[in-house]
Amino acid sequence: MVEFLINKQHDESRQGESFLPDSESSGTLTGKVYIESYGCQMNFADSEVVASILKEKGYGFTADFRMADLIFLNTCSIREKAEQTVRKRLTEFRQVKKERPGLLIGVLGCMAERLKSKFIEEEKLVDIVVGPDAYRSLPELIEEAESGQKGVNVLLSREETYADLTPVRLNSNGVTAFVSIMRGCNNMCSFCVVPFTRGRERSRNPQSILQECRQLLEAGYREVTLLGQNVDSYSWQHSPEDPRVSFADLLEQVASLSPLLRVRFSTSHPKDITDEVLYAMARHENICNYIHLPVQSGSTRILGLMNRTYSRDWYIAKVQRIREIIPDCGLSTDIICGFCTETEEDHLETLSLMEYCDYDLAYMFFYSERPGTPAAKRLTDDIPEAVKKRRLQEVVNLHRNQSLKNMEKEVGKVLKVLIEGNSKKSTSHWFGRSDNNKVVVFPKEGNLCKGDYAEVKIESCTAGTLIGKLHNKTS
Ligand code: 5AD
Ligand code: SF4
Repeated sequence: MVEFLINKQHDESRQGESFLPDSESSGTLTGKVYIESYGCQMNFADSEVVASILKEKGYGFTADFRMADLIFLNTCSIREKAEQTVRKRLTEFRQVKKERPGLLIGVLGCMAERLKSKFIEEEKLVDIVVGPDAYRSLPELIEEAESGQKGVNVLLSREETYADLTPVRLNSNGVTAFVSIMRGCNNMCSFCVVPFTRGRERSRNPQSILQECRQLLEAGYREVTLLGQNVDSYSWQHSPEDPRVSFADLLEQVASLSPLLRVRFSTSHPKDITDEVLYAMARHENICNYIHLPVQSGSTRILGLMNRTYSRDWYIAKVQRIREIIPDCGLSTDIICGFCTETEEDHLETLSLMEYCDYDLAYMFFYSERPGTPAAKRLTDDIPEAVKKRRLQEVVNLHRNQSLKNMEKEVGKVLKVLIEGNSKKSTSHWFGRSDNNKVVVFPKEGNLCKGDYAEVKIESCTAGTLIGKLHNKTS
């Protein structure tokens, strides 16, 4: 999979992926479910929880919505465009429902939470609306909807982590998996709707996380990505007498399961990533040297208005610290262009910060005001769209040059690559990733398999892909 420069993995770029292979119903129910997911990795992981809850009740799955008795859209609210995409998709499903009135349509995730029962009024043919903390109630809500009522549950919880559920791996390559370790966010960045749609921060019991990772390892998986809105504020205490488990502790415990299991994590808030986490990364070869560290803006004034709680200099010092402790660490970021009151000078500060940080990957957006957020309440969305777009283009152009140069620096090196599957372009090539998250493609030779590690000598590159040749098989 080639990484694109804008929006990949975060939101509307990952649109409407449906993952479920057709399956026979495993229990008493014959209903076939189709799930389509939008948005961040958390949403994709949540769809796997939803699939687990429904599978337990005997539902079967289909990858073709025309064959489904129940269609679920797991939605994203982070920018207006993400919501527009979902609404457009709903109009297509509405057409199917007109032909087949028995079909039930459900909206899950952040948009369900944000719009609540208003969704049912606005989108007349939606039958079920379920927020991110209420997926356990889905079977009852489906029953309600089947009896002609509307099924709505958007209660947010301070405890729900779905810790005891084993997610059904959707569209899995059998090698890499997401493991959710915490939910919600307490940060209140002024532009962000997430604290309102996903509620308060809560951490998942480390035993259940380790158990899930162990099961994945036994099933042949070789990489887990520990997921949360803000993984560095992970914190667990069994009881007041027990020692607290921090994110650094958890990271080490997962990494100690097996040297064969790579560990990644996302997302880190710059204010929360500690030296302990960086030292744990440096100590364990199998914790990948890659950090996603969203900066959002290079201007201290704008960072203040965004309520990011750090300044430009503080962020730069954090990046220096990362490079001191993990010299070859890959670094990615998120950037918002055209936030309220952003001047040309502020924008130039973002560009110069990018020059300094030399990101390997950046997810770049223009500001989209979200109703109910602190910025929507207190600030004016005063940057004209044309200016936002021009600034975004400048940020994208700079990033393209930087990331290409960073790819070129890998040419000539031998990298350890975890093979994830066939290259999209040719089945005679493997596709995998390096430790620092670069996509690597190389011709198949020897008796390597998916899930093996290989040493690959990099011979050339494009902006998104390193192209190499097998140097050595390592396991
Ligand atoms: N407008 C534009 N981008 C946003 N993000 C979050 N909220 C908004 C918004 N209102 C971006 C941030 C965040 C990423 C997941 O999405 O960069 O880190
Ligand atoms: Fe949103 Fe900020 Fe929380 Fe990230 S840290 S989810 S940007 S409020």
